[in-house]
Amino acid sequence: MLWRGFTQYEFFAAAHKTVRRVTGTLALSVFTAVLGSLEFGYNIGVINAPQKIIEKHYNTTWVQRYGEPIPTGTLTSLWSLSVAIFSIGGMVSSLCVGFVSEWLGRRKAMLINNLFAFIGGSLMGLSKLCHSFEMMILGRLIIGVYCGLASGLTPMYVGEIAPTSLRGALGTLHQLAIVTGILIAQILGLESLLGSENLWPVLVGLTVVPTVLQMALLPFCPESPRFLYIIRCQEHHAKSGLRRLTGRHEVGDMLAEMKEEKRRMDMEKKVSIPELFRSTLYRQPIIISILLQLSQQLSGINAIFYYSTSIFMKAGVQSPVYATIGAGVVNCTFTVVSLFLVERMGRRTLHMLGLGGMCVCAIIMTAALALLESVPWMSYICMLSIFGFVAFFEVGPGPIPWFFVAELFSQGPRPAAMAVAGCSNWTANFIIGMSFQYVADLTGPYVFLIFAILLLFFLIFTFFRVPETQGKTFDQIAANFYQRTAGGMMDMDLDLDLDKPSTEL
Ligand code: GLC
Repeated sequence: MLWRGFTQYEFFAAAHKTVRRVTGTLALSVFTAVLGSLEFGYNIGVINAPQKIIEKHYNTTWVQRYGEPIPTGTLTSLWSLSVAIFSIGGMVSSLCVGFVSEWLGRRKAMLINNLFAFIGGSLMGLSKLCHSFEMMILGRLIIGVYCGLASGLTPMYVGEIAPTSLRGALGTLHQLAIVTGILIAQILGLESLLGSENLWPVLVGLTVVPTVLQMALLPFCPESPRFLYIIRCQEHHAKSGLRRLTGRHEVGDMLAEMKEEKRRMDMEKKVSIPELFRSTLYRQPIIISILLQLSQQLSGINAIFYYSTSIFMKAGVQSPVYATIGAGVVNCTFTVVSLFLVERMGRRTLHMLGLGGMCVCAIIMTAALALLESVPWMSYICMLSIFGFVAFFEVGPGPIPWFFVAELFSQGPRPAAMAVAGCSNWTANFIIGMSFQYVADLTGPYVFLIFAILLLFFLIFTFFRVPETQGKTFDQIAANFYQRTAGGMMDMDLDLDLDKPSTEL
């Protein structure tokens, strides 16, 4: 879709001071990379709608094996495990992003990662045929491993091949592909489509389709020139990659910028995960990265995406399944809005706007839920506030944390930082997935107040601690942190050489 016809085409022209071309190769490479994100989103959304039908399969298998129906407690535990084991896979593999991306390179790592998706998808798709719920659970674990790696590799690759002026917009495509995957899964999961007793194995097995497509396309995409030049010291290959990505023969200015980053990196030791926390130079950006990821997950967004149908039901909404799809549509629409705003308004502003809007929506939702019994039309307010909550999420907290981490670090510490940030994201995701229902039972209509308080905290943190990175080269961003650490400066403006035109990509 995106890459067709974009050769020599001026893309997002209105959003940039300096208009940059998106060449066919750049568009193809970004499209291919975000197929991994599509798959990630698909697997977040796919298990929600057909829950009851897949549980039936677990029960049938149990009866076949033991001659009696599965005990309710066992079924609940097996189902919770099927849902949560996905995040456990993601937690573990996201920690390996740094090592894998340095060892194999970004492109080969994405290519080989597809094996996990293939095995995971096949196990899930064949579990009914093989009368095994273990295959389903194992498949969810392995697909989680795939998604954990993809959630680090995709933003890293896209961030490294994108021109500075388009880095935010192209970075947002990772999130756009995730939300598109969620929406596709929500729609295909309808009982009238693939969410039926006979077809659910096709629904869960379909995840191999983007895998095959990505494997077919990756060989046509160049390896990240930044990786080739800065890490592998392969100037010649880096140059030819740059030429393909930019469509220009003369790429000396871009190489010069990378050279500067390499020069700085050569002066530093290799950065491991513990080093990120020990070094005063990296402590500030790694804390910001972790808190941004936490702000994404602890905003409560996945309480909506995992449990929306039951939330809408409690809120008295008729056709909760369609309301869930409505939330998916709002989700996609506002990610597109963010795509166009991110290079105009900046990351920091959009992130704060999103957090603030979500906080207000969470408060309105709480009031509406509390008044529901006495004022029946509050169900509409509740639904609208959920849609608003999702819309504000996609304006900032959805897309921004994913690519912001890649922006905060230079080539040396970036892989380790992506691993730490990814793991924080997946851990928080797991905690919300596991605990939301228990907390909701305890607090009743007030559960979203907890998220409102957290959102307020993250808003204040972003205001005081998060710098703006829009339009800055990686080197300028890293240098700013260096300068702040060295000089003890705590002002939040990245005012270092910022008015100089960037020479990167
Ligand atoms: C982000 C989150 C993911 C969430 C999705 C919702 O990508 O990382 O957990 O489900 O947004 O759109």
